[in-house]
Order: sequence, then C-alpha cells, then structure tokens
Amino acid sequence: MVVVTTPTQLSRRTVLKSAAVAAAAVGAPLRFFNADAAAAPASKGIFGYGVASGDPTANAVIIWTRATPPAGSGQPVATPGSGLGSPVPVTWELAADKQFTRVIRRGTVRTSAAADHTVKVDVDELSPYTRYYYRFRALGETSPVGRTQTAPDEAGTVHALRLALVSCSNYTGGYFSAYRTIARRTDLDFVLHVGDYIYEYGNGADRYGPAALVGKRDGQPATETIDLRGYRLRHALHKADPDQQAAHAQHPWITIFDDHEVANNTWDTGAENHTPGAEGDFFQRRQQAYQTYLEWMPFRMPDQQSVPHQGTQFFKRFTFGALGDLSVLETRQNRSQQVDAPGSKTTGGGFIPGADPVTAAKLSDPNRHLPEPEQLRWLQDEVSTPRPWHLVGNQVVLAPVRFPGQAFGLPAGSVLVNSDQWDGYQADQSALIAHLGAQPRTNGDVVVLTGDIHSSWAIDIPADLATYAAVNNSVGVEFVCPSVTSDGFYEIVAGASPGVPTEGQVIATRAVTGAVQGMSPWVRYLDGVGHGFTLIDVTPQRVQADFFHTPTPTTAQPDPRVVPTGVEPTLAISWQTLAGTRKVVPAATPIGARSDNPRTAAGGGAVGGDQGSDQRDGRDDNGSNQGGSNQGGDRADS
Ligand SMILES: [Fe+2]
Repeated sequence: MVVVTTPTQLSRRTVLKSAAVAAAAVGAPLRFFNADAAAAPASKGIFGYGVASGDPTANAVIIWTRATPPAGSGQPVATPGSGLGSPVPVTWELAADKQFTRVIRRGTVRTSAAADHTVKVDVDELSPYTRYYYRFRALGETSPVGRTQTAPDEAGTVHALRLALVSCSNYTGGYFSAYRTIARRTDLDFVLHVGDYIYEYGNGADRYGPAALVGKRDGQPATETIDLRGYRLRHALHKADPDQQAAHAQHPWITIFDDHEVANNTWDTGAENHTPGAEGDFFQRRQQAYQTYLEWMPFRMPDQQSVPHQGTQFFKRFTFGALGDLSVLETRQNRSQQVDAPGSKTTGGGFIPGADPVTAAKLSDPNRHLPEPEQLRWLQDEVSTPRPWHLVGNQVVLAPVRFPGQAFGLPAGSVLVNSDQWDGYQADQSALIAHLGAQPRTNGDVVVLTGDIHSSWAIDIPADLATYAAVNNSVGVEFVCPSVTSDGFYEIVAGASPGVPTEGQVIATRAVTGAVQGMSPWVRYLDGVGHGFTLIDVTPQRVQADFFHTPTPTTAQPDPRVVPTGVEPTLAISWQTLAGTRKVVPAATPIGARSDNPRTAAGGGAVGGDQGSDQRDGRDDNGSNQGGSNQGGDRADS
C-alpha cells in the first residue's frame, strides 16, 4: 500500500499540494517572467479580458466584461487592481443573431476604478429557452461577441437540460484543456462551476502545481492573494487565459465559490491558509475576496434574494420548467471551524481519524454547521417540493466516505474521514440525508453535483452505512467532477513515489482509490487519475454523468496538464441514475443528441425606440445599479 504521508500532516490542501511543492523544490529555480500575464490584456485594447455571461433564468441573464480605459500619454495603464483609470461609458447590446442585425436590447452603463472597470448588466425581459448574442462598445472599440441563452424554464414544459460540471481550476496546475473542450461544445445550457475557480497561492514555496510549469505558467500576483489588488489580479489572470475566455464567451456560467476564492479551508472566522496579523484581518481579506468575485464573475448580485440569512446570501436557485431545479449551495461563509485531529497541528480540518470518542463527538456536534440552518432549511423545503429532479450544486462531498488509514501510512483497518467535507459536520449531514430518505417518490429524486476533491465519483448516498451492502438503502445520488487542473490522487501518489515508473504510479493510485471504494462500497465509481469535467444530462427518465478525462499518464507523457495544446479530456465512462431508483448505475451509451434546442430570438424592431431612454449614465436599462459602480463589495460581509 502506498504511503502518502502521516495523518497529522494531512489537511486536504496539504495533501493535495505536497507532491507539487516537493517537485518544485528540486526542479528549476523559480522565475517569474510570466508575471505580467494578468495585466497584459489591459494594454491590448479596451476589452482584452473578453466577455462572459451567467446565472440564466427564464427571462434574464447577466452579461459581463471589463472595459480598460486607454492610458493617456505618459500615464500608466489601468491594470486590474491598480485603482487607476478614468470612468468609462460602455454600451451593451443583446441580439438575436451574431451579426447584430436584430438587436433586442441595448443600454449604456458607466464603470470606473471603484469596480476595477468591470461591467455587469442583468438583462431582463427576455424569452425563456432562447439563444442570444451580446457585445459591448466603448471609446470606439467593440468587444468580442458572446453567446448565451436563457434557461429552459417554461411552466409545465419539459425541455432538454445539459451542463458541464467543473471545479478546481488551478492556473499554475496546468493548461485549461477542459475549458478548451467545453468552449467547442454547442450543446450546453450552462457551465456549472462549484468552486475553486481561482487559488490564492503564490509562485514561491507555496506554489501549487507541477514544477514543469514554473516560469511558463505562473500566478499573478507572484505572492499569495490577500487583498483587493491581489484578488483582482488573480481573477484577471483567469480572464486573460484564452481557454477560459473562450468557455465564458460560448456559454453562460452558473458559479459559486468554495474556499480557495478566499483562502484554503476557510470557516466562518478564519482559514487554514490565513495568518491573522501577518496577512491582515480575516474578515477584511474575505470581504475583499468576495468583492472581487462579484466584480469579476458573471454572478447575479446577491441582494435580490430574500431568505433571512447571516451575512450575504450567495446560495441561489434555478428552475427548469416541469423537469426540475438546481439549488446552488454556499458552504464557507457561515460554516463552523473544521475538526482537527487531537494533538495535531493541523488547522482547517482534513483527513483525520474519526473513531475516537472525543473526535467523534465533535464531528457529530449538532451545534456545528456546514450550511447555516437557514440555508439547510431552504434546501430541505425545495427537496420536499414535487419535481422530477432536484439538482444540488455543492462544494464538498455530501455522502459519507471512509478513507482507509492504510493508504495514508496508518495500521490496516484504521479509518479516516475528511473533516472539511460534510463528514466533518455529521449532524447536518445526517439531517439532510434523513430528510432525503423521508421524501415520497412523488417528490422526485435528488442528484448532488460536487467538486473539491480533484477526482471523479459516482456515489449512492446511503441512509445507513451499516446496512447499505445488504439492502442498498440509497436515498439520493452524488456525481463528483474531476479537477480542471488541481492535483489529485495520482499527483499525490506520484509525488510520494519518485523513481517509480509512471505506469506503476498509476497502478498504485488505482490501488488507493480501490481501497477507498472497498471501505465505502456505496462509492460505485472513483477515478483519481484523470482531469477534465463531467457532462450532466437531465431527462425525465434519468440523469446521466459522462466523465471526460485527460489521457492516462505514461512514461512518455507523465503529466498531460503541462502540454499547452492538443491534450484534451475525452469521454472515459458514463454513469446514470434512473428516475425513482435513487441509485447510480453504469450507463451503456454516452449522452446523445438533445431532445430539443433553444429557440432563436424573435424581434429586433423595438430597440430603436428604447435606445434614448436607455442612455442613463451609471445605470443599466433595467434601472438597477449593477453597471460598474462598486458592485456589491460593500455588502459582501455585512
Ligand atoms: Fe480544489
């Protein structure tokens, strides 16, 4: 059995980066000559960071860009995070066709350094399940054209529903081949990113990713992101990436942050990777991270929601006619601090022995929460509403998972849990699972869509672990997508076994993941080698998950993530859950053609008459204040 490290050293983050840091330490000297990558588009025109859209509903969609003002002669460029640059009036257009011969909506907003020159418009009064194109204009320049659509959401109607599930896109971890593949698809309703869109680490000793990319794909800023300038630059780095840009321009995205958008393994008052004092005040840091997230992501501003809530309500829900709904959870802002192993220096949780009475009592303490009680109730209420499918966008694995201590250098038979997952909050976990089990079939079925653990899973969610093997008492299912680039089980094993041929490291990885399944037999599928994404397709009859993986590493190509072009994820395996079964089973055939497609928008005649009244400086034409002026950051930690 492969020894990874000792459990007292194990936080999830520590485990997942240890291999890369070890490799970097013996690799090439650190160089930062790629450090201008995030700032480069600012010198290449007004719309160098591309366009994006997101949070599609039946009648509205967010459109986004950054409008960099041109530098005056002798003046510095208004790079992201710089606070520099004059206000910019930006006109936006949304049309039925990509040539913009049939413009449907148009307006003008004004952005400024207060919003890092980002532009976000919530375009409403649109038609459901309809294709649109959008672009921006400012100071004589025109942005690239974005393609978007409204949600397949019409009362009483079933439309096709298809999404790409992604998480854990570490810039220094590799090229975004998954995004490149997703950008070429034309059959998605949206991309669902469930967290770790950025990572906060720097390029030094805390660098996270393969040593082969040192100097070729470095983070910016070069140091850990801890303030507004740093987070803005890091988000800009992602929006400067060509694969990321293409995927945003092609599809609307529904996103939610996990921990790394702030710092590793955050809880309500701190984080594993935050040092109070040396890295400032945690709440100020988190407020600046959230502000940047709201500026740079096509995320509908959260003050439009109404559930009573501690802090900002980031969790959100989307509906899809007679087919189902998607509840997107947010599980960091209000979570209780993770349980650490007794005597350990670990902070922020991780893989810990969970069996001793003291630790077990902490893990199941009903006063400790992952989502705050209001959010858990909000989810439970929806699950009790009759709909064929209840999809749940979720950050950390919900299903109980028992990890074999033997794989982590402990005696055979010892058991670890990951206390940063729902397993670390067993009162909430049990309450939710019991609630799922109590629902009559007429309320439909629950499919949890998760990321975080940098590996691919298809899981039954058992009502009771002890009797699962005998009676399969699964109450719902969970599909977990692989990371886009972040280190997974294979990288951990490879880092812990230098000198072993790549093929042997792959075999050893599969032994580890096989041992996890052996201890948790409700984990019906687990791959710890491939990176990529999961295609999720929903019909009244089933929800299918097609896992797309990068090629299996070989001696000739031990890390496909470091190849700039040509190494893209392809279909690896298909799993599904049939309506009414609440279990996962293999699917015999890959996801096929959609049953129907979004409509082409009609119209274009009314915009001319509306245009004059739309020209309101600083306001979009819906009368909201989302166009560029300090977009919600003030409220992020209220
Ligand atoms: Fe991650």
